Parts: sequence; C-alpha cells; structure tokens
Amino acid sequence: MDINKIPTHVSIIMDGNGRWAKERGQERTFGHFEGVESVRACTEAAVEAGVKYLSLFAFSEENWARPASEVNTLMELMMKSMKGEFETFMRNGIRFMVLGNRAQLSDALNAEIDDIMEKTSRNETLTLILFLSYSGKWDILQAAKKMAAVMAAHPGTEFSASDFSRLLVTADIPDPDLLIRTSGEQRISNYLLWQTAYSEFYFTPTLWPDFRKEAFREALAEYARRDRRYGKVK
Ligand code: IPE
Ligand code: IPE
Ligand code: MG
Repeated sequence: MDINKIPTHVSIIMDGNGRWAKERGQERTFGHFEGVESVRACTEAAVEAGVKYLSLFAFSEENWARPASEVNTLMELMMKSMKGEFETFMRNGIRFMVLGNRAQLSDALNAEIDDIMEKTSRNETLTLILFLSYSGKWDILQAAKKMAAVMAAHPGTEFSASDFSRLLVTADIPDPDLLIRTSGEQRISNYLLWQTAYSEFYFTPTLWPDFRKEAFREALAEYARRDRRYGKVK
C-alpha cells in the first residue's frame, strides 16, 4: 500500500457487541468480552501499518443510561483490560490515553488510568486513545467554557478555529483522517463532532467482535482510494 496514503489517525466507533452476542443466544456482555479481542487485533494491525494514532469510542456519555449491570460489567472490563494490556503497551511502544468526562469514572478506575497513562507517556510507536464517558457536545461545551473564562479575564482575546481545537480534550492529537463505524449504523452518535469536520467516513455492516485485522486492513485500503479535496479544486 502507498505509504503516503496511510492515515495518521484512525478512529473507530466500536458498535454491535450486543447484537453479536444476541445472534449467539448469549448475554450482551459476552459481546463486550469478545470485542476486547478486536481491540487487540486492530491495535496490532495499526502498528503494522504505521498508523500513529488509533482512537476508539468505548463508552459514550449516553451509555450511562444503560442497565446498571451492563454499565458495571463494562467498567470492570475496562479496568481488567487496561491492567492486562500494560505489558503489551510497553513492549510495543504504545502510548495509552483515556479521554472523556473523567469525573464520571470511579476513583479506582481513574487511578489505574493515570498510572498507565504516566508509565506509557514516553512510548512513541502508536498512541492508543480510549474515549470513555465521552460525548462531542460535552467536549465542545467544556472548551467553550474555557474560552469564556479567558475572554472574561482578558477581554478582546481572539480565538481562531485552531486555538479552539487546543481547548478540546484532543488538544495535541491530530484530527481523525479515517472514521470507521461497525455494525451497519450510519450515524455519529455524539462522538467527535468538531474533530471529524474533514474525516473520511467508512461504514461496515461487520459487528465489532468480528472486526479483526483483515477488516481493519480493508478499511485502510478503502481510505487509500479516497480523494480528499478539502473544498478545493484538484
Ligand atoms: C458497542 O456495542 C459497545 C458500546 C456501546 C459500549 P453495543 O453494546 O452498542 O452493541 P449493539 O449496538 O447493541 O449491538
Ligand atoms: C456508540 O454506540 C457509542 C460507542 C460505540 C461507545 P451506541 O450503540 O451507544 O450508539 P447508538 O445508540 O446506536 O447511537
Ligand atoms: Mg450499539
């Protein structure tokens, strides 16, 4: 594949775990467990392809409204998976980050996240970002509040779009080049609203637990065929 056409940042809305489990006559959480295997596979495939940022929508602010038992299982799964993957992150040069409304997460989970983020912060091969308790509107709102505070303290301060971008939780992360959504849904579900202004969208009917290396590579191949014009004439 043309090295120039490898996206710098791939983002994925990992969807379809519940349906995958249901198809097998299992509890929804069974699909979440299997989905962790897809996270591993896509992370490996991203490293192999030379992708620098892989971000994953793991839990939205809206997902807090799911039954408590599912929410609890998901939070336990996050905790367990992060702990379990730490050695792999170090071995493969993976910088791990969690972005989102962290105030809604438990103290224990936040402590674990801080620990892994700190310990992996100097890794340079791939930045792996988990969006947890995230929503695009929340992100824009918290950035707008910061902007308002600066303007109140220093009236007349000007903010360009790129200045505003730096107030979002993704401040130092380049915008996604490619946004993948699995499971056939074709919506953004309050994910990265500002940051996907010029992302290429890729929708696939494959359910997240079935989205493995080959599927990831196919999305990269499709991306390489796209013509990004940014409003200009070529
Ligand atoms: C994605 O799978 C995982 C999360 C949103 C946490 P779902 O749990 O949304 O699975 P479906 O969409 O109901 O099949
Ligand atoms: C989006 O999936 C959120 C994540 C993948 C974390 P949902 O399953 O929550 O989205 P909707 O409800 O189909 O829009
Ligand atoms: Mg879903």
